[in-house]
Amino acid sequence: MQELSLQGKVAVVTGAGQGMGRASTRLLSERGAAVAALDVNASGAEQTIEGLPGRALALACDVSDSAAVNDAFAEIESAFGAISVLVNNAGIGRAPGDGSDEMYGLMAKRDAELAERGASETHVDHIVFMEDAGWRGVLGINLDGAFYCSRAAVRSMANAGIAGSIISMASTAAQSGEGPLHYVTSKAAIIGFTRGLARELGSRRIRVNAVAPGPTNTPIMDGIPEEWIKRMESAIPLGRMAEPEEIAQAVCWLASDASIMCTGSVLVANGGSYFL
Ligand SMILES: NC(=O)c1ccc[n+]([C@@H]2O[C@H](COP(=O)([O-])OP(=O)(O)OC[C@H]3O[C@@H](n4cnc5c(N)ncnc54)[C@H](O)[C@@H]3O)[C@@H](O)[C@H]2O)c1
Repeated sequence: MQELSLQGKVAVVTGAGQGMGRASTRLLSERGAAVAALDVNASGAEQTIEGLPGRALALACDVSDSAAVNDAFAEIESAFGAISVLVNNAGIGRAPGDGSDEMYGLMAKRDAELAERGASETHVDHIVFMEDAGWRGVLGINLDGAFYCSRAAVRSMANAGIAGSIISMASTAAQSGEGPLHYVTSKAAIIGFTRGLARELGSRRIRVNAVAPGPTNTPIMDGIPEEWIKRMESAIPLGRMAEPEEIAQAVCWLASDASIMCTGSVLVANGGSYFL
């Protein structure tokens, strides 16, 4: 039988300072991996590794900065040796200049009109308000960050001949289209990236998969109006958002040899909110 244990593995988690990244880092550690928690928020990453049972390192790293990513991976390799698991978890849903305020305002206006008179002429065209910097801000972290980290991890795995596992956070939004335009685009791109890289790396026995959570109870939800969260939850067949620890279970399974024949797959963990 293949193992759920991660004993002997070196795992890197990005966006590890809170939410699913924190939960994944902790579970990876509990299962036996040496863990490196990367986050742009250094104190969040430090808190994540507090009290973990095995070897653990917290590093400040902005994943959208290619040179900073290379430096961080070099530091991890010198501390723990070659990398065997990468979790591309860092992600944002909005960025300065992306027109989010205008979009949420228009959505609220449309909702109010629909509730009042069953019709609305309000257009929620996010793209009209999207500045270049806002678009790049989200794509730079959600997509470029996954590329920079995966490249650094694959270099390490290939040099050491490690049959590693790369897991990237996609989202139900990649398929449903529900969500801010740049975010939806980045998550759909993550699925393409996962499949392309899985084909490339199969001969090295490096596996590449994605996890597609649905609504999950993390601080990323803080910017979303409460009534929309309630509406979201009422449409989920399992009746609630996921907890970050529940998504971490999916991440750890893909990190472990228990998923040895999975590559290029998207593991959907969304309570049935959308069937991919
Ligand atoms: N929460 C949800 O409902 C949900 C649903 C589907 C997918 N996701 C995806 O799952 C992942 C984790 O989501 P979460 O809800 O735990 O998010 P979160 O906002 O709670 O945590 C994200 C972490 O990423 C860090 N981060 C942001 N920019 C960074 C950068 N440039 N470099 C390094 N770290 C950076 C933040 O500091 C934070 O600690 C994200 O990719 C998100 O898009 C979330």
